[in-house]
Amino acid sequence: MSVTILDILKKKAEGKKITMLTAYDFPFAQIVDEAGIDIVLIGDSLSMVVQGNDTTISVTMDEMIYHARLVSRAVKNAMVVGDMPFMSYQISTEEAVYNAGRFLKEGGAHAVKLEGGASAADTIKAITKAEIPVMAHIGLTPQSIHKLGGYKVQGKDPKVAKRLLADAKAVEEAGAFAIVLEAIPANLAKEITRAVKIPTIGIGGGRHCDGQVLVLYDLLGLFNRFVPKFVKRYANLKADAIDAVKRYKEDVEKGRFPSEEQSFK
Ligand code: KIV
Repeated sequence: MSVTILDILKKKAEGKKITMLTAYDFPFAQIVDEAGIDIVLIGDSLSMVVQGNDTTISVTMDEMIYHARLVSRAVKNAMVVGDMPFMSYQISTEEAVYNAGRFLKEGGAHAVKLEGGASAADTIKAITKAEIPVMAHIGLTPQSIHKLGGYKVQGKDPKVAKRLLADAKAVEEAGAFAIVLEAIPANLAKEITRAVKIPTIGIGGGRHCDGQVLVLYDLLGLFNRFVPKFVKRYANLKADAIDAVKRYKEDVEKGRFPSEEQSFK
């Protein structure tokens, strides 16, 4: 049995940290799962890190489902969460429930994530009523980039901080099983984490969150168009891959590849 929402809630109750990472395809999802991460998110960040777009706005529901299928095929243990793309849940609660259902039926996910606080409460209620677990996402919500005016820390202003605390309580009340807190001051994340019973999962939310999430390609050094302050790099795979490809090129050009070893008799 995969990690379930009960395991995730239990971790908070027992003070154990929750680990979450994104993945977008079979080989990387297998790596994340075999490493023992609790939750694998097919993030709409794939719009930027896989498709090369400037924002997360343009990725479509069909594209998300395609990637969800690749990921869920690889994952044996983790909980798989599908990230609802822009305009897949904003138009009506009916469409939101339908699209959330597609993640489970067609994409093999166990839950969905969507961006928004109190304003998304009715949508969260409707999706959970359809027996689909929902993870909420507040703070810096990348789908609102044009309204927010950039990828900026949210909640430094006391009024916004108060609103974010109310948002966290509203999504908990609506039935969300966890909340992603993106790019908010560590003290605010601590206050929110104490104020709600459901786990908070930080990305730029500091150490007091119940868990942490990163975009896998940031952690592995595969995406370097920009590196947010909250990212910690654990590898430099882009540089390693360029080096490997250059060595292959040189071997071919100098007649060192293929050698006897790679040739048939
Ligand atoms: O799309 C994504 O990768 C996300 C995470 C950063 C939480 O929403």
